[in-house]
Amino acid sequence: MMSNKAYIQADDLVKVFRLGSVEVQALRGLSMQVEKGEMVAIVGASGSGKTTLLNILGGITKATAGNTVIAGYDVTNASPVQLVALRREIVGHIFQELNLIPTLTAYENVELPMLAAKVDGKSRKARVEELLGIVGLAGRMKHKPDELSGGERQRVAIAAAIANDPKVLLCDEPTGDLDTETGSVIVEYLHKVNKEFGKTVLMVTHDPSIARQCDRIYRIRDGQIISVQAPTTDDQMEATSRVDVVRERLVEIKAEIDRLDEQAKAGTLDLGTFAGRRTALTDKQSLFEEELHRLGL
Ligand SMILES: Nc1ncnc2c1ncn2[C@@H]1O[C@H](COP(=O)(O)OP(=O)(O)O)[C@@H](O)[C@H]1O
Ligand SMILES: [Mg+2]
Repeated sequence: MMSNKAYIQADDLVKVFRLGSVEVQALRGLSMQVEKGEMVAIVGASGSGKTTLLNILGGITKATAGNTVIAGYDVTNASPVQLVALRREIVGHIFQELNLIPTLTAYENVELPMLAAKVDGKSRKARVEELLGIVGLAGRMKHKPDELSGGERQRVAIAAAIANDPKVLLCDEPTGDLDTETGSVIVEYLHKVNKEFGKTVLMVTHDPSIARQCDRIYRIRDGQIISVQAPTTDDQMEATSRVDVVRERLVEIKAEIDRLDEQAKAGTLDLGTFAGRRTALTDKQSLFEEELHRLGL
């Protein structure tokens, strides 16, 4: 079931959920293409269809209409048996609510997908140890999920998701509940998985600064892609450098105001001069602050 489309390609995906007489259109004709080796971010408001999209790409949810190809495999027309194989061998999936078994240790959680793939015991042991080492958890093998921090649990989930060496990694808000610092550690590991191990990574995220670290950003609204943005386009670069310039200026102005206040306190300035200079500086400060707001910060 090979195909000659893009590495990951979704065409006109529609997903309708029916709950009794209520219909929810989670996806309304969503199309996207991702090339091999890319790391892309998928952003959008809560309820916009991000999780539904990942679940369709990963062969968990069947689309109501449309076509899906992932790593050359036709997901749309795959049989249930083929979908199981797809999920075991082609796709690593990190769920929003993680998919760790609470009664198993970190070691056993990472081993589980390899047991399903019937990897022999010796190779399993070597691989589990390698994987937990890669995500910096060599010292946490015997810990169960509730004995690990949020960031550590997330790293176990990454190790388990790449255990069977999938071609594609689907990550649903991998930094969702984590503080910024822990979140960026997780993203560093995902970058490593992308760059060093050559996996194509699709990551749903709420965090714009994490999205900007990806090759491209897909924005979803109401079940459709409304924009695809390359973070490195000139526009974006200009906006970013302008933000840096304005921020720098604000720091300088703040320092000038502090110096001025010191001089006034020390009595080396007459009140009129002080008031005039200070007003000029605070005016400048609010102009730059307004500009920062206009730039979206
Ligand atoms: N299994 C389901 N049954 C019914 N409605 C669902 C189901 N899964 C998702 N939805 C609905 O589909 C829409 C998109 O959900 P989801 O893909 O989870 O959004 P996101 O991940 O962007 O927050 C929401 O309105 C949600 O309530
Ligand atoms: Mg979601």
